[in-house]
Amino acid sequence: MTIDVTPTSVSGINIKSSQNRLLIKNGRVVNDDGMEDADVYIEDGIIKQVGRNLIIPGGTRTIDATGLLVMPGGIDPHTHFELEMMGAKTADDFYKGTRAAVAGGTTTVIDFVLPQKGQSLIEAYNNWRQKADGKVCCDYSLHVGVTWWSPSVKKEMEQLTGEEYGINSFKMFMAYKDTWMLNDYELYQAIETCAELKAIPQVHAENGHIIARNTEKLLAKGITGPEGHEMSRNEEVEAEAVNRACVIANQANSPLYIVHMMSKSAVQALQTARQRQRQPLYGETLAATIGTDGSHYRNACFRHAAAHVLSPPLRPDPDTPQAMLEALADDQLQLIGSDNCTFHEKDKELGKDNFAKIPNGVNGVEDRMAILWQKAVNTGIMDPCRFVSVTSARAARVFNLWPRKGRVAPLADADLVLWDSRLQRVISATTHRHAVDFNIFEGQNVVGSPQYVIVNGRVCLDDGDLRVVEGFGKFVKTPTNSPHVFGAPQPPLSPQPSPSPLHTPQRVTNGNTPSPGEELKPAHAHRQPEPAPSGCSTPTGRKMRDGAQRDLQSSSFSISKEVEGLDTKTSVRVRNPPGGKSSGLW
Ligand code: URP
Ligand code: ZN
Ligand code: ZN
Repeated sequence: MTIDVTPTSVSGINIKSSQNRLLIKNGRVVNDDGMEDADVYIEDGIIKQVGRNLIIPGGTRTIDATGLLVMPGGIDPHTHFELEMMGAKTADDFYKGTRAAVAGGTTTVIDFVLPQKGQSLIEAYNNWRQKADGKVCCDYSLHVGVTWWSPSVKKEMEQLTGEEYGINSFKMFMAYKDTWMLNDYELYQAIETCAELKAIPQVHAENGHIIARNTEKLLAKGITGPEGHEMSRNEEVEAEAVNRACVIANQANSPLYIVHMMSKSAVQALQTARQRQRQPLYGETLAATIGTDGSHYRNACFRHAAAHVLSPPLRPDPDTPQAMLEALADDQLQLIGSDNCTFHEKDKELGKDNFAKIPNGVNGVEDRMAILWQKAVNTGIMDPCRFVSVTSARAARVFNLWPRKGRVAPLADADLVLWDSRLQRVISATTHRHAVDFNIFEGQNVVGSPQYVIVNGRVCLDDGDLRVVEGFGKFVKTPTNSPHVFGAPQPPLSPQPSPSPLHTPQRVTNGNTPSPGEELKPAHAHRQPEPAPSGCSTPTGRKMRDGAQRDLQSSSFSISKEVEGLDTKTSVRVRNPPGGKSSGLW
């Protein structure tokens, strides 16, 4: 076990007592639906009270959060730690990767189990658990890749969504021909299976066949450098796959989550699909997309250009970062991840003579929140509530971790970031926590960063000092049938389209209507309407999952009803719809 502390602070590292009782005083609590000036009392890793004039037992450590925003810790829905791909292994392992996450204010990551073609999904899942469990500094969950198709894969998807494994999302690739790509017939079946299981299908949307052919043509013309990467897979190649994935999901009557959306054309394709589809469509973009751009592929230095190679690629259109920020603010996109997948320089050099061999991936898990704050909140594109929504709460809702994660409220996990919106720093590989010596945001000035980060009640960034503990985090199961995704019918934005014939398939008998009992029910026939958001900071409307049922009365001291009543009277509250106001000054 590694305890990452400065020598002088070793005496303060009593994990048990530091996770026991903590009071955060005088901060401004920010959730996705509102802000309030309130104190937060934590006991045994759980938020017990939020309000003013709390009665707290003696000996509790107090953090003065005057001038700080108290937000739910970030949830990064997209990381790759200890992943082997394209002949290399990522530099950030589960220890260094989650350490970097915590340093940047993220307290939960969702990584991807990616089986080899032909490999058992459950075997791959067990490998990932083995790699991660002893190393993670914060909580983590897993998505599982469906990288090949057979009846046994379908069976394993069913098993993985059971209580034993706790998986509710599967990623399918429309690119990476010959390694992870599925054809459309397989993709359709994988998405259908997700719909049956009430799991979330995720797709990597790029046309793998077009990329393969374009790569051959570019190499034949002598274009071998990193600039060929984007040329082989331009916006149209991404947008086509987004549209096709949406069509397939619609035919399967399934929601869909599109990972790492990187272009204006892809967002446009998603918006167009939303006009016709009844099931929810979620779009995730990346810190890389809003924080830098594709001009770097033309840098004369191979090391520099190759360090920016990821898929889908950064775009040369200089308007892309701003457009993606606006799409995130306007709810055309709902989440921002990092797709953190770092490779050492020696590994990127595998593609020195052929851009198609450069291992794909960049950093982002540490800087995701600060980059977004700088580009979106400091510029007035988003308010802090929307920031919480896209960096934390929406991921919690979609992947069924909410309200245990993604919310500052009694009974939630005490995963918090105390954000100093005045803290100025310059991002650099010389100071970051990643295992690589390159940072795609190098030299960028950001104003707004975490001053404290609390993971399950333990102060892991303490007044700027990183004090993570290897193995302190735990695996958090994600139950299927997320109410946010499967709970409410989604009305189309435009006039009601006629449903696909397969949504209510009926056998035609001599041109007559089916006889009673013959009608086949669509997958959503039994959906319950989603309860309205509670509108207050207590998540009483939701059932805690995965053993998370908690009893406020289990606190070792009692608070009177009158004192509890003071909470709301004294707090200054700004109420927004869940997701936050997405424009204007806050
Ligand atoms: O370039 C990327 N995105 N690397 C990680 C693998 C993936 O497709 O997410
Ligand atoms: Zn991908
Ligand atoms: Zn990825």
